[in-house]
Amino acid sequence: MIILSGSSNPELATKIAEKLKKRVYFPCTQFADGEIRVQIPISLRKQNVYIIQSTSPNTNKHIMELFLMTDAVKRASGKETTLIIPYFGYSRQDRKDQPRVPISSALISNLLKISGADRIVTIDIHSDQQQGFFDGPWDNLYASYVLLPTIKQLKLPNLVIVSPDKGGTMRANAYAKRIQAEGIAVVYKERDVNLRNISKALELIGDVDGKNCLIVDDIIDTGGTIINAANLLKQRDAKKIIVSSTHGLFSSNAVQKLHDSVVEKIIITDSIYVEGMKFTNKFKVVSVSKLLSEAIKRIESGTPLSAGLLD
Ligand code: R5P
Repeated sequence: MIILSGSSNPELATKIAEKLKKRVYFPCTQFADGEIRVQIPISLRKQNVYIIQSTSPNTNKHIMELFLMTDAVKRASGKETTLIIPYFGYSRQDRKDQPRVPISSALISNLLKISGADRIVTIDIHSDQQQGFFDGPWDNLYASYVLLPTIKQLKLPNLVIVSPDKGGTMRANAYAKRIQAEGIAVVYKERDVNLRNISKALELIGDVDGKNCLIVDDIIDTGGTIINAANLLKQRDAKKIIVSSTHGLFSSNAVQKLHDSVVEKIIITDSIYVEGMKFTNKFKVVSVSKLLSEAIKRIESGTPLSAGLLD
């Protein structure tokens, strides 16, 4: 197999390749005018190719790199092309929720197919239905495999798992079952459609009085959703508030805002690399490299991905 990576998360790509005892190639460079150039330095004929690229900020550049690398592999007679996209940018734009808006995530999935992708692998894609946007296999892995051991180490008694919005209820339920929590609570959140990054936590369904709370979400962007949910939990007399999230975009000074908030600990994965990001002691980063390298091994050997991926 051959492993390629774009420029979005070289550290993660290197870790995955190390675990597979393989070399990772970085074939993307940029011209002075911003155009991306891709040239793969080795023959790919009849080889399975794995392209690792989170389409995280600088999102549009990273998506373009992914299209061009995929096209280059197709034209170099690779055998099967698997795109490992730990964080799939535009995944929150997955439906026509307003008049005259695109379904951006569907368009990108179609363009990946046209570029030559045979298979997609993601982690905690924002909504499961997006797998239907791609005409081919799309394996979505769960970051809970790597997050839950760290959460369990905290040994929090009387734990309630909190979803910060109704869309995350099933995820909260799954965590509650696997961690044997006392129950779940759900925040009723509203977002101003014209101010997409501003949301309000309006009401809480569930009892958190005197309980430790774990807020579980797929994405932290500006941190607003988490901070509003945490404040509401405090108003309802919750004890410790811990956060576990898969993808950390950390826009708009989110790290500092979360550090200054009532949240005591934030557990996040390394699916996204943010240049210059300095986490404070409230943050714990766990790696998805083992999860992804194991998934690649199983795709190569034709073993199911459904059970015991890290057991
Ligand atoms: C929304 O549906 C997602 O699951 C996240 O809750 C949201 O994207 C987080 O964004 P922010 O941190 O800007 O509130």
